[in-house]
Amino acid sequence: MPANDAVEAPAPVWVSRQLAVVVPTLNESANVPVLVARLHEVLRGIEWEVVFVDDDSRDGTADVARRIAQSDPRVRCLQRIGRRGLSSACIEGILATSAPVVAVMDADLQHDESLLPDMFAALADGSLDIVVGSRHVPGGSVGEWDEKRAAISNFATRLSRLIVRADIADPMSGFFMLRREAFDAAVRNLSGQGFKILLDLFASSPRPPRFRELPFTFRTRQFGQSKLDSMVAWEYLMLIADKLIGHIIPVRFVLFALIGGVGVGVNLIVLDLALSLGLRFAPAETVATLAAMVSNFMLNNQLTYRDRRLKGWRLVRGLVTFSVGCSIGAVANIGIAAQIFGEGQSWWLAGLAGALIGAVWNYAIASTYTWGRAK
Ligand code: GDD
Ligand code: MN
Repeated sequence: MPANDAVEAPAPVWVSRQLAVVVPTLNESANVPVLVARLHEVLRGIEWEVVFVDDDSRDGTADVARRIAQSDPRVRCLQRIGRRGLSSACIEGILATSAPVVAVMDADLQHDESLLPDMFAALADGSLDIVVGSRHVPGGSVGEWDEKRAAISNFATRLSRLIVRADIADPMSGFFMLRREAFDAAVRNLSGQGFKILLDLFASSPRPPRFRELPFTFRTRQFGQSKLDSMVAWEYLMLIADKLIGHIIPVRFVLFALIGGVGVGVNLIVLDLALSLGLRFAPAETVATLAAMVSNFMLNNQLTYRDRRLKGWRLVRGLVTFSVGCSIGAVANIGIAAQIFGEGQSWWLAGLAGALIGAVWNYAIASTYTWGRAK
């Protein structure tokens, strides 16, 4: 008998999984049991599982999901520690299931779960890659939205045309279902930034996904709160920028360099102010340089490294490593510029080279130490 006969896999004792529903959660403990009950109702006749991807919610969402999972094998929970992000949660949830078809939906019951069987049926014959639950096709609706939110959403949808050529009415939807192959084809190009995973998928697919939109009405939230804050708009712009120029130059570096430019302005303004207050040049320039460093640090913390924002003591420690790093960068900048100038090059070329080397150095230190991951 050949030796490897002994390790042959046993015949499967259950039917294969047909559908996974991936649900990102952040403080949704009251919604999880209701959603699971509703999935049981609407998905009769389909072999399904639900994967809750929880970013360490303070309200015990992950425990609630695990408690249900103890008696319900269809329920799973993936808990992430020290991480944030709706899109990246969805990506990791999809990667954690073996199902050939995957749905993504919110936990807060705003997405109409009764659409799931229709979505599943639409994917059955293999002629489509993605089915989108859409609020903007006939029969769909955003429900009770005020004018302001509707206008913002409209504008964002138009902006999305910059990176997605497909004529999709609701690219902002967080409710959709797709075939595993379509996801696999895009996964390595995904930006994973922010809230808009569907848009990311469309913009990252090597060939335009074949899709259909099915209408649904966006319900109002009953339990818990929306996590949408003003910075979601910022994250959205970062996603658009990343898709437009990210393959040429990292968006983070561009932002970092732009903020560096702002720092030069702060430096000059504070210097002018300090001199007019009667300070001598050296102390005035010292104050101005410190002001520029602190403002650059705060801006980078709010914008460039928003997903790794430092708070409390870490903020203080970050300011120290940032300042030390930038000081070394300044010395390198001056040294290189002086060397190039000494070799007979024009002053502006020398200055530009120095500034560029300084910026790259500062960025490397900021990314690895100040806002680095491992701690
Ligand atoms: N794991 C994880 N991590 N989940 C998150 C995070 C996060 O950082 N932020 C939000 N969620 C979860 C919420 O718990 C909820 O289940 C779902 O993601 C949507 O969050 P909401 O806060 O309810 O978002 P919304 O209702 O304002 O926005 C929804 O509608 C938009 C369209 O207007 C989302 O579906 C958006 O993707 C969609 O664009
Ligand atoms: Mn919601």
